[in-house]
Amino acid sequence: MSIAGGEFTRPLAVAPEALALSAVGVYKSFRERESGNRQWRRVDAVSGIDLTVPRGEILGILGPNGSGKSTLIRILATLLMPDRGQVEIFGYDVNRHRLLVRRLINRVSVEASFFKKLTAEENLAYATGLYGVPNREAQTMARAILDRLGLPAKKLRVPLEQLSRGQQQKVAIARALLTSPTLMLLDEPTTGLDPKSRREVQQFVLDVRQGHDATIVICTHDMDEAERLCDRVAIINQGRFEAVGTPEELKARHGATLEAVFFTLIGESTAQTY
Ligand SMILES: Nc1ncnc2c1ncn2[C@@H]1O[C@H](COP(=O)(O)OP(=O)(O)OP(=O)(O)O)[C@@H](O)[C@H]1O
Ligand SMILES: [Mg+2]
Repeated sequence: MSIAGGEFTRPLAVAPEALALSAVGVYKSFRERESGNRQWRRVDAVSGIDLTVPRGEILGILGPNGSGKSTLIRILATLLMPDRGQVEIFGYDVNRHRLLVRRLINRVSVEASFFKKLTAEENLAYATGLYGVPNREAQTMARAILDRLGLPAKKLRVPLEQLSRGQQQKVAIARALLTSPTLMLLDEPTTGLDPKSRREVQQFVLDVRQGHDATIVICTHDMDEAERLCDRVAIINQGRFEAVGTPEELKARHGATLEAVFFTLIGESTAQTY
């Protein structure tokens, strides 16, 4: 694929047959040290993940706290370099073509990075400016998206620090869609939302896939959400996938409900992790 010219300036074509995501042998470890202790310890956050996600799929990642979900998402989003392994987004290597990949992905996470003193409108204008989306067009789209997510228009014009966490999350979702919806990496997008807002965001995720030709990878602790949204689910434990399949396949193999599947596959280690 040619990357001649400025990486930011041209519309980016992706081959229709390209996999949205291909990850082979991905490892990432961190060093951590208990306070007062001089010894460093290695934490294997992601320990050999292989994954392919075809275009248009919604893939769910379920796993206990500390199992490596956010680390994996951050690697896919080019925010962390893997120690080993190869990741391609629509055929572009995340290390070699970082800027191109950034135009094809967007990450929504609970710790959304915003300028908290600026309004939602200003933050969205800043983000879309980086991606070359005309401001007026972006504003109209943002209003429409946030309207659908149930955020009143007047909330767009107050500093973000004055919005509730769930309201800020909605702005983060709008931002992800405005800039580059091709592969959306959603790290617990509905955590902390009220039941109605959660439903709205879930419906919105389904609509984005349908209407925008988007591929979605979503981490969640909500089993119902995983069943409702995901074509396939990966169960991660201690940095490794224990199983990947459709909810029906996983239930046929490992338990009557997705929650039962989770406990069968995570087993004793869940008690240790929580
Ligand atoms: N920057 C870091 N430095 C050191 N250790 C880290 C760092 N980021 C993550 N870890 C460790 O890597 C492991 C995986 O963390 P990660 O955030 O990926 O888990 P998670 O599955 O997203 O958990 P949660 O469900 O709580 O969000 C944990 O043991 C965590 O302590
Ligand atoms: Mg996490």
